[in-house]
Amino acid sequence: MKKITLAVIGAGCRGMYAYAPYLLENPHLGKIVAIAEPDDKKRDLFKKMYNIDENNVFKDWQSLLENDKIADAIIISNNDDDHFKPAKIALEKGYDVLLEKPMSNKLNEIIQLGDLAKIHEDKVFMVCHVLRYTPFFTELKRIIDSKELGELVNISHHENIGYWHFAHSYTRGNWRNSNETSPLILTKSCHDLDLLLWLTGKKCLNIASFGSLSHMKKENFIEGLMRDRCINCNIEPNCPYSAKKIYLEDNKIVASLNAVCTNPTKENLKKAIINGPYGRCVYKCDNNVVDHMVSILEFEDNVTATFNLSAFTKECTRTTKLMFTHGEIGANHMKNLIDVYKFGDNSHKIIYPKLQKSGHGGGDYGIIKDFISMVQNKNGDYKTSALESVESHIMAFAAEYSRLNKVVVNINEFKNKCFK
Ligand SMILES: NC(=O)c1ccc[n+]([C@@H]2O[C@H](COP(=O)([O-])OP(=O)(O)OC[C@H]3O[C@@H](n4cnc5c(N)ncnc54)[C@H](O)[C@@H]3O)[C@@H](O)[C@H]2O)c1
Repeated sequence: MKKITLAVIGAGCRGMYAYAPYLLENPHLGKIVAIAEPDDKKRDLFKKMYNIDENNVFKDWQSLLENDKIADAIIISNNDDDHFKPAKIALEKGYDVLLEKPMSNKLNEIIQLGDLAKIHEDKVFMVCHVLRYTPFFTELKRIIDSKELGELVNISHHENIGYWHFAHSYTRGNWRNSNETSPLILTKSCHDLDLLLWLTGKKCLNIASFGSLSHMKKENFIEGLMRDRCINCNIEPNCPYSAKKIYLEDNKIVASLNAVCTNPTKENLKKAIINGPYGRCVYKCDNNVVDHMVSILEFEDNVTATFNLSAFTKECTRTTKLMFTHGEIGANHMKNLIDVYKFGDNSHKIIYPKLQKSGHGGGDYGIIKDFISMVQNKNGDYKTSALESVESHIMAFAAEYSRLNKVVVNINEFKNKCFK
């Protein structure tokens, strides 16, 4: 099997830790040979971790991609607002591309990426919808397709963001403001919309959504009592959203500490909370994305779904109830538990899919493994493609349009408008 070479754009949490370590653990499959990252510390760390030749270390994607092709494939894992151009240029230069979600914050660019996928159909072009690669959702898909519980009729799907995770990523962090990134239904939930498409195996026909930012906003800041930063706030000891609690005391957010500072020792974290964005009061941030949103979806063949996205949950997990003509499934992703009940014969079984190492319940390594196999021999278990991802991204924009305009959106009509 040919060993492949990969370049990485963006040495942030995803670029540094989600997919690249798989190559360190499986050197027989390939090697990371180039990095583009503007932050000096991250760039140096990446260079060291992955043993990159100095000639292939770049300050940004622009300087990496102005060169002739230097690797077989490229992982594009920089920030959301700058995915389109590097993906387009990389495809045109002949790279196979693994692009982080969302494909872009702009619908017109997403549609153009779909067109580019068709033009460059000889290239592997995948979007990181990693949940399709988890043993957990793979098992749900297997049961649905096996028809052992009859026909799937409807789904009740919950994205329980977790109160602390919402405070971290969507109030203080990268995805807090839709003017800088995009609406929460795209940044957080293109995964969920993609899952609903994949699990049902049907096209979405109509969508209606409601939701708002109800809690972490300036109206809930109590002047005189609260402070702009947790470090000197009077109510901090009783605030569940306290940065001190989240970053210094609780162990919940360990996987995301690298977002707070490059070398997250206790000392560095303390400094970051005093000075950086992650120490801000959640009621005094420049956030605007919704903290709860509910969507109703109609698919082909009368299949329906509800999708409930909420910040206000204890756990950070996806819970899904699938209702079939001859049975029911209750599933909890983080608990790795699938409870299958068959009507009539009272047969009841609990499945714990085989756990796999890596982030997103095994999905991060699952997708990079598949991507490498596709690049090597163009016939991996091609569970996702950029073209399919365009669909779920369009659904996210349709849901947001529905929420803002209080209308039911017909996806085909919405698409026709978009494609004009
Ligand atoms: N698939 C998933 O489940 C999943 C999960 C989390 C994040 N993401 C996505 O992955 C991407 C990266 O997220 P992250 O958490 O690693 O963010 P991050 O901020 O930690 O990393 C982004 C990196 O890109 C770098 N960058 C900025 N401009 C650049 C340029 N011109 N050239 C090269 N690099 C540049 C930044 O300096 C930063 O280090 C985002 O699009 C995000 O939405 C996907």
